Amino acid sequence: MTEKSYGGNNGVREHIGGKTSKIKDNPKQVKINKTKTSTTSTSKSDNINNSNENLNELESYKKAGEISIKIKEYARNLIKVDMPLVEIAQKVEAEIIKLGGEIAFPVNLSINDIAAHYHPTLEDETKATGLLKIDIGVHINGFIADTAFSLDLTPDKKYKDLIKASEDALESALLTLNNNPTLNEIGSAIQTAIQKKGFSPIVNLCGHSLEQYNIHSGVTIPNHANNSPHKLEPGAYAIEPFATTGKGKIYEGPASNIYQITSPRNVRGDTARKILEYIWEKNETLPFSLRELQEKFGNIAKLGLRELEQNKIVHSYPQLIEVSHHPVSQAEHTFIKTPEGKIIVTTK
Ligand code: CO
Repeated sequence: MTEKSYGGNNGVREHIGGKTSKIKDNPKQVKINKTKTSTTSTSKSDNINNSNENLNELESYKKAGEISIKIKEYARNLIKVDMPLVEIAQKVEAEIIKLGGEIAFPVNLSINDIAAHYHPTLEDETKATGLLKIDIGVHINGFIADTAFSLDLTPDKKYKDLIKASEDALESALLTLNNNPTLNEIGSAIQTAIQKKGFSPIVNLCGHSLEQYNIHSGVTIPNHANNSPHKLEPGAYAIEPFATTGKGKIYEGPASNIYQITSPRNVRGDTARKILEYIWEKNETLPFSLRELQEKFGNIAKLGLRELEQNKIVHSYPQLIEVSHHPVSQAEHTFIKTPEGKIIVTTK
């Protein structure tokens, strides 16, 4: 899942809480700040999830990555032209749970000029078509694997080169990592690879640092050459180049149906309160979808969610749309930089 960059090239924006990750591999040092409600259920997925509690931070990141790899394979086999996006969303998210993971954010299913942040509501009849980006988030104990790929669903495969451009850019960015690159060097590698194919990078979308239960934790990784001499501290990061035949910028469009709790506090309405409790227990501040609330609470979820939005308790993510309405491709991997400087790509 990406982030719109708001100017400034130093790669660091103001920190909104959260801890600095040191990628600990001593289980005792790992703070799992999520209390599971005890359950009498003995379903398979509960047993798998319980076993996750013994994993340390690095193991959790790795397991989330391993599941995300299987999910990408599953999605590639599942998705066919004209399949309803809502069916894809339901099946992909169910598979994450089945494999013992948890959903770090609603699977983003963004078509053509929508670069990112689209998730169907329950009644959405949009079908898979054109250039589809599948952006998947899996977490274990709050440690996230954020990874994406693009599918060309046109009969003549006309987006093949555009997809290859973002994949090449991602590979080229990953290759720089072993030399302790500056953010400029990473961004330049991305821009060069995309332009070599005759396309443009989306310059106001970027990669980002990840922390426990925090999908965008402060550092941004630009998708273009920049002036930043900043180097990456040990931690977890996602790199996600976007390539387009258009101008290479996005604007914030209509609501994506993806939300996030920003300021949890008391709320009057019954449904709003139930939604808030449900999401906080399950996701803390990780993004969630209107769709999952519709499935859990029925259509009244819309009213509850509206109340939470009006009270500025939740934030609604806008769709990110290419300004010239040209198609956009995306590729993304998550990697860890250990305190020793070793790079571990968890999602490939
Ligand atoms: Co991301």
